[in-house]
Amino acid sequence: MAEIICVIGNKGGTGKTTLSHMLCHGLALLERRAACVMTDELREPLRAEGRRYVVADARSAKAREQMMDKLRNLPGWIGVLDGGANRTDTDIALYELSNLVLLPFRDSAEDLRTVIQDLERFPRAHALPSQWPHNRWQLEAADRLVATMPAHLRSRVLPPVMAVSSSKLLLQATVPEQLPTAVNNATRALARMILDMTEHKESFAYKPVAPSMPATPAASAAANPSAATPPGPYQSTMRH
Ligand SMILES: Nc1ncnc2c1ncn2[C@@H]1O[C@H](COP(=O)(O)OP(=O)(O)OP(=O)(O)O)[C@@H](O)[C@H]1O
Ligand SMILES: [Mg+2]
Repeated sequence: MAEIICVIGNKGGTGKTTLSHMLCHGLALLERRAACVMTDELREPLRAEGRRYVVADARSAKAREQMMDKLRNLPGWIGVLDGGANRTDTDIALYELSNLVLLPFRDSAEDLRTVIQDLERFPRAHALPSQWPHNRWQLEAADRLVATMPAHLRSRVLPPVMAVSSSKLLLQATVPEQLPTAVNNATRALARMILDMTEHKESFAYKPVAPSMPATPAASAAANPSAATPPGPYQSTMRH
């Protein structure tokens, strides 16, 4: 039977779909066979062309069952089930089907409240910080936010997936043949961590990340004087 991973959670826009595709792309770069299974009936399925992994449309319960039957007969494959927001019943069904359960959340108080509820509802699940900031102040604020979680839940928070703007290319209808190094590196690192968890039963824990960007534009300019000055507010050049 294939390994089944689901990416779920009650809050919208936490990065479930992006992370599902990032994970499948990263697994493919590590030469693993992966299927990204979309279960969100509010979204259009993405086409397979240009991808290194299979995509499957399993938006109805029946299609999901058929997909699971297929995956059961594909040993060595990894199926990643992409959930949808505000669907507790579907999340429960996906949780029951999965060997590994990921709950992405962003660095906001609302995301934290929701992921705490989901961690309590799904005792085998791991919280996955998603689109984590690079800027020093935002990182410190994000660390403080995670530190407010009850200790027994905080121990189930994984190392963060950093914001990578080019990750959106994976959700395009047509994926470019060559993806930027940043997205390839981020997806490979995510896939490696997930394989270590599923295959070697390794555990991972959240720890503060060193900032890759200074906190303010002024500090950024000081660190990199050749960088272009950010544009000011828009001003019309038209004569009236
Ligand atoms: N690691 C990342 N770096 C940068 N942007 C990201 C990352 N992950 C997600 N995003 C952006 O965040 C937004 C929401 O992502 P996504 O659609 O994956 O969330 P979702 O949880 O699937 O949403 P929904 O609940 O509507 O299904 C998108 O604009 C996406 O490009
Ligand atoms: Mg989605």
